[in-house]
Amino acid sequence: LASIDVDISGVEEGTQLTVKFLGKPIFIRHRTQEEIEAAREVDVSTLRDQVARNPNIAGDAIADDKNRTIGDREDWLVMIGVCTHLGCVPLGNAGDFGGWFCPCHGSHYDTAGRIRKGPAPENMHVPIASYPDENTVKLG
Ligand code: FES
Repeated sequence: LASIDVDISGVEEGTQLTVKFLGKPIFIRHRTQEEIEAAREVDVSTLRDQVARNPNIAGDAIADDKNRTIGDREDWLVMIGVCTHLGCVPLGNAGDFGGWFCPCHGSHYDTAGRIRKGPAPENMHVPIASYPDENTVKLG
């Protein structure tokens, strides 16, 4: 499939939906205001990986919270759910930064999916995606 539409109407704030696309898990998280604010408070210059890793915008865009999201839907975070260390699937609502924790070797990601601690070298990557309407994420 070149693209799929995912219905996000039932995804409550503070939870995430995981779907499979092109053989990989895709995390679609409906972020709370607290999660968004926590991510915005981080000074990008302190991050290990300062690149947004978002193919929907310029390749050298910095990893601020806005650039980790797509369009004006900053309450949603869409990411390829693969740890950038050796490819395990991180657990949501976990880790020292309130985002994701990879149990394989202990990588901690924040509420924007950025690597904050542990061996992973890069932020979790954002896939090509868009919002064709209020209740839909289009992957691909
Ligand atoms: Fe995630 Fe090693 S694969 S920390």
